Amino acid sequence: MSQAHSREFPLSDGEFDEIRALVREHTGIALAPSKRELVYGRLVRRLRRLKLGTFRDYIGLLERGGSAELDEFTNAMTTNLTSFFREPHHFDYLQRTVLPALETRNAATRRLRVWCAGCSTGEEAYSVAMVLAEAGARFAGWDVRVLATDLDSQVLAAAEAGEYGAERLARLTPAARERWFTPTSPARSVVRPELRSLVAFRRLNLVRDWPFQGPFDVILCRNVVIYFDRQTQSQLFARMAAYQRTGDHLFVGHSESLFRLCDRYELIGKTIYRRLE
Ligand SMILES: C[S@@+](CC[C@H](N)C(=O)[O-])C[C@H]1O[C@@H](n2cnc3c(N)ncnc32)[C@H](O)[C@@H]1O
Repeated sequence: MSQAHSREFPLSDGEFDEIRALVREHTGIALAPSKRELVYGRLVRRLRRLKLGTFRDYIGLLERGGSAELDEFTNAMTTNLTSFFREPHHFDYLQRTVLPALETRNAATRRLRVWCAGCSTGEEAYSVAMVLAEAGARFAGWDVRVLATDLDSQVLAAAEAGEYGAERLARLTPAARERWFTPTSPARSVVRPELRSLVAFRRLNLVRDWPFQGPFDVILCRNVVIYFDRQTQSQLFARMAAYQRTGDHLFVGHSESLFRLCDRYELIGKTIYRRLE
């Protein structure tokens, strides 16, 4: 053992490696050896809750395939940081450049689809929905939908509820808060039905099958692949390319890139890609 874990539950090197392998298998997330404390901190709560004595018992439970605990395990291993209008240049670009172009390109089908892949607690999808709703007149009578997916059932439940505390809503302009949210208490507000109805939240593991067809005019996959290894990233972007048409857009997170990973897209702006032929 590299460290004497004189803690409530010892975690051996071998057990830590087995947990990393399970995380990788079930989520695609590649945990670096340096994440030991993070893993310990997040899983120790599960051991206590389940009244298990050791990490070996916990690994045994996961390996026996108890799906309920596998869900808790994957929920515990994901990192869900997000906010309204995070990386705001994407929303400006969507509003100023992408939507006017789609108004022309999709005029025959009058259909517009956006996919938020790894939507966490919903702020990203509702930010997209606000941009779409505010362009409303342009798309009157169109079939406009945002598909928002995540692996983590807990964050999805929060996204579905669409109720946020004042500190999260502080990222919005007073006009947007007023227009798109209804107070439920002095410190909390819920998204209004007009906005809520634009978004469909679904549970989806990006490293498993995708039970939908697309195509998606815009995909936002932001601050998700940063947790995957390069091979998984490359496979994921190749699959996304198959769900888009020439000229469709893909937005990635501020520290992410398709460079030497996927040649199906060209970089056209800061973390903004366009699907090639
Ligand atoms: C840091 S959040 C990013 C949220 C949002 N896209 C943003 O940029 O603000 C990453 C999200 O990816 C999700 N995630 C991680 N692995 C996933 C997988 N294999 N399939 C689907 N979602 C996954 C996590 O549950 C988490 O909610």
